Amino acid sequence: MTEMSDLRSSYWIDSAPGTPHPPLDRDVTVDVAVIGGGVAGLSTAWELTRAGLSVAVLEAGRIAEGVTGHTSAKLSALQSLVYSRLRHVHGTEGARLYARSQTEAIEHVAEVAELLGVDCEWEHRDAYTYARSPHRVAELRAEAAAAREAGLAASFVTETDLPFPVAGAVRATGQAQFHPRKYLLALADDLRAQGALVHEHTSVFGLQEDGACQVTAETGAQVTARDVVVATHYPVFDRALLFTRLTPRREIVIAAPLPVELAPSGMYITPEEDTRSVRTAPYEDGKRLLIVVGEKFTPGTGDPAVRFDRLLKWTAAHFPDAEPRYAWATQDTFPCDSAPLVGLLHPTARHTYVATGFGGWGMSGGIMAGSLLTALITGSEPPPWKDLYTPRRVRSVLRAAPRFLRNQADVAHHFVGDRVRPSTVTSVDRLPRDSGAIVRLDGRRSAVYRDVDGKLHALSARCTHMGCLVAFNSAERAWECPCHGSRFDTDGQVVQGPATRELEQRDI
Ligand code: FES
Repeated sequence: MTEMSDLRSSYWIDSAPGTPHPPLDRDVTVDVAVIGGGVAGLSTAWELTRAGLSVAVLEAGRIAEGVTGHTSAKLSALQSLVYSRLRHVHGTEGARLYARSQTEAIEHVAEVAELLGVDCEWEHRDAYTYARSPHRVAELRAEAAAAREAGLAASFVTETDLPFPVAGAVRATGQAQFHPRKYLLALADDLRAQGALVHEHTSVFGLQEDGACQVTAETGAQVTARDVVVATHYPVFDRALLFTRLTPRREIVIAAPLPVELAPSGMYITPEEDTRSVRTAPYEDGKRLLIVVGEKFTPGTGDPAVRFDRLLKWTAAHFPDAEPRYAWATQDTFPCDSAPLVGLLHPTARHTYVATGFGGWGMSGGIMAGSLLTALITGSEPPPWKDLYTPRRVRSVLRAAPRFLRNQADVAHHFVGDRVRPSTVTSVDRLPRDSGAIVRLDGRRSAVYRDVDGKLHALSARCTHMGCLVAFNSAERAWECPCHGSRFDTDGQVVQGPATRELEQRDI
């Protein structure tokens, strides 16, 4: 049976490895410090630099490698069934502003790519939200009407070029897809050429907001800046408890070369079957690279290896000529009221900003955030969607209360329920090689992994964010927290926030 680890990881990283940038090793003073070197952080830094400000980008890992390096890289303002939800929570005008802001972001990519002379494999494509079950046709018709009302060129159709029949689909013309790293690495090169600082392997742990902002890196170096942007997927400095309004979800991605004549031309997504998303990308030798995403799940729950197997079988059944070559997983945060959070970091903030909660559509959302934050920081006329995205909004959160409360109930269920559940194995002696389980060591719940050589790695099972119990993801060899999606490697180091501290080591 093929396992995820048998295949190469993210195609985007594999095909555009990029050049390294040095860690920050000295104190610096700039106009703006941008924490996070993904699509939102790099886009914001680039816009600010073009506006004449001095900028430092601080990335804990490698730029454009985290969530941004694992995306499906669709640039679509049609985003599954979002317009029906937006109309309900933000009203007709809110849905219109959302469509306009996302559309402008997509057009902006094309303009910037042309300006910089970047070949980022930009391709115009129609986007589809489809369903195979006739029971969902009414929902799709309603979404087509809502998307049209919001200003998209959207219609309900019953024909697609997918290799299987659908009961119906919403089609939006004029959307696009690209190679995210070819675009973002070019932005980073241009940033450096314009005098901006770009530092990788630079985690930050301190943010002081009195007077001039001060960001302290783990290296000990400090950045003094008038403004700070926190663009780290889940905000590392979450002073407004935004995590209560965000839900983490993880998905599996499989990429497989396919003869060009068998490749569907559109970009597809369905909310059925825990989502299925399909697009293709340019590839070598008369082939396109089929990219299938699906099996959405809460980190730390279920068995991702089973989910990977299910997605592999789905791909083989519907695209029998595709040969899986890459597999990876991606993680997104979903805001309870369906609009990202972009604006001032907390209610009393004056010079600190956040961009998060892109709900799986981080390419257009992150680029939109770059333009919006630049307007807020430079004091230029902000776009009309400023209030739609402000983290200070309250009314839409109240309208989305059922979803908000359900998320909190899920967190409470994990916080309490996972503690009273029996350990998954009674003794470490029973733990097979290359597997992990929660085991009681000296009466304390511990996260124990036995590596392929038989060596045991024991850690506290309490997530360092707020204390929920982590669970082992066997497909990706990681400890995951179901409450807000923090992830740790088998030695306890943070792979993904909101946690910022590693899991405590345990003796065994
Ligand atoms: Fe919040 Fe683990 S991520 S408790």
